[in-house]
Amino acid sequence: MFARIDHIGVAVEDLDASIALYETTFGMKLVHRETVTEQGVEAVLLDVGENHVELLAPLGPDTPVGKFLAKKGPGLHHVAYQTDDIESTLQTLKDAGLRLIDETPRTGIRNSRVAFLHPGASGSVLTELVQPAEDH
Ligand code: CO
Repeated sequence: MFARIDHIGVAVEDLDASIALYETTFGMKLVHRETVTEQGVEAVLLDVGENHVELLAPLGPDTPVGKFLAKKGPGLHHVAYQTDDIESTLQTLKDAGLRLIDETPRTGIRNSRVAFLHPGASGSVLTELVQPAEDH
């Protein structure tokens, strides 16, 4: 069902300070930066082999990541698994009785299609499904 881990999402207070750590100190290549208004974040992707780290800074306190930071502080936010058919994966998980946050995919970073499972359905790990855009 899952091809591989696409990325891990990390919630940060200060995007540029975090980029300095990941890019300069850890030596990961920054490959994309985007404001995803629908998800209330400014986000970057850094390459780690074929996978990514996604750094997420909230656009405001009333966004999901803003609330996460207020409650838990910066840190690991979610894990994203890659699938090549997000509709069918969602349907399979729904049929298995899992609670979904997104019943249908929405647009994610870099024109991917994404959907989140409810953390209560996945051992308190916020889990994202990602179907990358054709050209990625
Ligand atoms: Co993500």
